[in-house]
Amino acid sequence: MNGGPVYILGIESSCDDTAAAILADDNLLANVVAGQEIHRNWGGVVPELASRAHQQNIVPVVDAALRKAKIRKEQLHAVAYTRGPGLLGSLLVGGSFAKGFAAGLGVPLIEVNHMQAHILAHFIAGKNPAPEFPFLCLTVSGGHTQIVKVNGPFDMNILGETQDDAAGEAFDKVAKTLGIPYPGGPLVDKMAKTGNPKRFSFPEPKSPGYNYSFSGLKTSFLYFVRDEMQKDVDFIEKNKEDLCASIQHCIVSILMKKFLKAADDYGIRQLALAGGVSANSELRRSFEELTDSGYKVFIPPFEYCTDNAAMIAITGLFKYRENRFAAMNASSSARYRLEDI
Ligand code: KG4
Ligand code: ZN
Repeated sequence: MNGGPVYILGIESSCDDTAAAILADDNLLANVVAGQEIHRNWGGVVPELASRAHQQNIVPVVDAALRKAKIRKEQLHAVAYTRGPGLLGSLLVGGSFAKGFAAGLGVPLIEVNHMQAHILAHFIAGKNPAPEFPFLCLTVSGGHTQIVKVNGPFDMNILGETQDDAAGEAFDKVAKTLGIPYPGGPLVDKMAKTGNPKRFSFPEPKSPGYNYSFSGLKTSFLYFVRDEMQKDVDFIEKNKEDLCASIQHCIVSILMKKFLKAADDYGIRQLALAGGVSANSELRRSFEELTDSGYKVFIPPFEYCTDNAAMIAITGLFKYRENRFAAMNASSSARYRLEDI
């Protein structure tokens, strides 16, 4: 190697975003994401349609990333891709492309765990400092809700996780009840800004230890709205902002309570957020407020919250530095656990 920067291409295709990013060491040169509008018509992600859209998007997205980064593909040192967890058909598209691309260029292939990548996104160079190990991370996305003790880039313990729906799923499902299109999380957040978070209250779900549960909350919300609609058909329209603010407040309070309990039990003062729901303004605010109580908090920039390939590339860089490469016959894994990295 000639001592210049290490260029890593990251490819992410675990759900409904096709993404490619390029890092020069830990500096981000390009971060391209193509979303998939097609799922809006179905109120959720349709796996088969997602795989097909990935197939259409993958080449243009990688091409756009290379052009944006102003490097030639021959300059890449490695290709990192999401091995899992996620939708198997979607993972296979990114994985197959990555293998072909790495083989064609004669560079190493690196497999990445999507949940590990959400956490390691904190290490992409930027104006925010990175946390030091060990830290506690609340990873909240459409598919996962986990409290993770991060001992090192390859040593992470899940202290607690959701036993049913993920926090993002709870946002999306209450949004659906209110007639807000998929994915509803960002719109609930937007409407909540002008609503009263104390107007309605919902029963807090019971779950053991540091685990979460959101499916009961979603059902109580549904029944509450249904009963009110029987009294007044315009109930949703008249109260949308307050409903959004109240349910958001409830979800965020549940998330924070257990996370802080884990932090105090384990004596960890460095707290990080990760995953799509970390774009939520109330959750970000609740985290920021913790600095007043002596915690050091780490909140990723918006572009690293929802699914992206920059997080795959930075995880790829950590692995590249330790020669943790994948075989060409590595399999994609829909249920790839964080403990197995
Ligand atoms: O990490 P992500 O992009 O994909 C998964 O790996 O699941 O997370 C997507 C989830 C969706 O459920 C979406 O509604 C939620 O993150 N989300 C939000 C916000 N932005 C995205 N939820 C609440 N407030 C937001 N601002
Ligand atoms: Zn994700």
